[in-house]
Amino acid sequence: MFSRISTAAVVAQLAMGVVASPCKVPTINSTVAAWQAKYPGATVQSADVVIVGGGSSGSNAAINLVDAGKSILLIEKKAQLGGMVDSFTDPTTGTVYDFGVATFTNLTGTEAYFERLGISTKSPTFGATTPYYVDFTTGQTIDYVAPDVVSEFAALGVYHDVVAQYQDLFFPSYANWPAPEDIPEDLLMPFGDFAVKYNLNDTMLLLWAGIGAGLADMLDLPALYVMQTFGAPTAAVFLGTDVQYVPESGRNQDIYDAVASILGDAVMLNSMVTESVRLANNQGVALLVENQVSGDYTIVTAERLVMAIEPTASNLAPFATDSTESAVFNKGTWSVVSTGLVQHPSLPADALIYNLPASAANGNDFAYPEPPFVDYFEAVGDGYFQAIVVGWEGFTVEEAQALAQDAIEKLADAGTIDPTNGVPLTIAAWSDHGPMDMRSTKEDLQAGFIQDQYALQGYRSTYWTGAAFSNQLSTYLWAYNLEYLVPLVVASF
Ligand SMILES: Cc1cc2nc3c(=O)[nH]c(=O)nc-3n(C[C@H](O)[C@H](O)[C@H](O)COP(=O)(O)OP(=O)(O)OC[C@H]3O[C@@H](n4cnc5c(N)ncnc54)[C@H](O)[C@@H]3O)c2cc1C
Ligand SMILES: *[C@@H]1O[C@H](CO)[C@@H](O)[C@H](O)[C@H]1NC(C)=O
Ligand SMILES: *[C@@H]1O[C@H](CO)[C@@H](O)[C@H](O)[C@H]1NC(C)=O
Ligand SMILES: *[C@@H]1O[C@H](CO)[C@@H](O)[C@H](O)[C@H]1NC(C)=O
Repeated sequence: MFSRISTAAVVAQLAMGVVASPCKVPTINSTVAAWQAKYPGATVQSADVVIVGGGSSGSNAAINLVDAGKSILLIEKKAQLGGMVDSFTDPTTGTVYDFGVATFTNLTGTEAYFERLGISTKSPTFGATTPYYVDFTTGQTIDYVAPDVVSEFAALGVYHDVVAQYQDLFFPSYANWPAPEDIPEDLLMPFGDFAVKYNLNDTMLLLWAGIGAGLADMLDLPALYVMQTFGAPTAAVFLGTDVQYVPESGRNQDIYDAVASILGDAVMLNSMVTESVRLANNQGVALLVENQVSGDYTIVTAERLVMAIEPTASNLAPFATDSTESAVFNKGTWSVVSTGLVQHPSLPADALIYNLPASAANGNDFAYPEPPFVDYFEAVGDGYFQAIVVGWEGFTVEEAQALAQDAIEKLADAGTIDPTNGVPLTIAAWSDHGPMDMRSTKEDLQAGFIQDQYALQGYRSTYWTGAAFSNQLSTYLWAYNLEYLVPLVVASF
């Protein structure tokens, strides 16, 4: 209604008391005062920068900002930092199984970050597995013909070289991303077409397994998104031309425990933002934070906010996004990924059971299951199998676990594995990674999606890190923070 009235007219009417103030812009101080009145027990904490999300990108941004001389507060909803890291210790053998994030590639800043945290590293080792190719909807083995390793690596080498040629455009940040009319067609075309163009047939299953199937519609989405999930540095690791690391301890959670110990009281665990005020022109933010365990409230004020969570509508609800922000994030699509550590006596001890549709038979490398699906069961030791389950946004943990259980029964009923005799799947550990792998469409990319996304940096005192603004892997995010995000935030003061 007001949109047809000029601002001057509204101001004049307000002055005359004709219209009530539609929404008086709150100040940080008035917000704090209002929250203190509503939650008298709330404590107030202030910092230069508040970071929301203590996973890979948020933890790293926090350390880098502290090292740049900024005071920080880091808000994490879980009881520990680390996000998609899932380290499980077998109670009997004491062996640690990392059934989430497995390994770390070596990029600019990776080694220095490990050193900063006091984490010494080693090369990971992997046990041998026997591959099975099974249609999990029927439980039947399919006649998929795996490529020989030489052909597989030759095709992966081609993929590596093409991605390396483009990666400055999107890795580690999209700072060099071209204007819509200059985006190379190779990045926009459906990945399936790109793979046919470069004859990647022999490495398709490796790529599918390598992206953890999070890009559930791999063949249809713009090739860009496969490249930013399985980048050239990752291809180089598989090709044996680059190194990768795990902590010397063999426990990835140690990285994040080290971050927590360095940051001390600046870390707020079990904590979620319930309300917020974010001001224009870097005038700061106020966040109302609820501890999920104690129910206590903390009022946080800061000059800048760094968002390190997936920008889904439900995650962003407490941040009251405006139309400029939601116009960007409404265009995102997410898959939901769960990872579990499971046991079942019918699963062969050294098996890596891939789920492929019946149409993958006879050497068709362009056939993958439709979400929701169990990606694979992979033997990792001590009778444990890692299971990855993928669905679209809204897919629940219960549904994911039921699908894994159902897959075991189908495999047994079809005689692919031994009969279950009614024994259910044992779930030793399960982790919901939630929505990930944000992507948009070719049309949106051509309409300036990335430009609009990056225009949000600094808007309403808010800066963005995390996989949705960079690339999918931990080390890629650390490079993004180091080379792009942290300098941007520091320069804004
Ligand atoms: C099965 C699997 C295996 C993987 N393996 C590897 C690997 O081997 N190597 C590798 O480099 N990468 C791997 N990745 C990818 C990598 O883990 C992710 O891309 C990376 O963790 C993304 O980092 P992030 O900071 O964007 O998000 P996350 O690490 O998910 O961090 C987000 C954090 O925010 C918290 N959070 C969410 N919502 C809120 C909220 N409202 N308030 C407060 N906190 C909130 C979450 O609890 C989480 O801690 C793997 C991913 C999966 C799914
Ligand atoms: C807001 O409150 C702080 C702390 O009480 C005070 O130092 C500051 O001057 C106040 N700012 C404004 C604009 O009133
Ligand atoms: C890791 O990467 C850094 C930066 O690119 C490089 O200087 C270093 O030599 C690499 N380490 C190894 C073992 O390759
Ligand atoms: C690669 O797969 C595509 C799609 O199935 C097919 O058309 C093409 O013939 C295959 N290429 C080779 C060399 O087999």
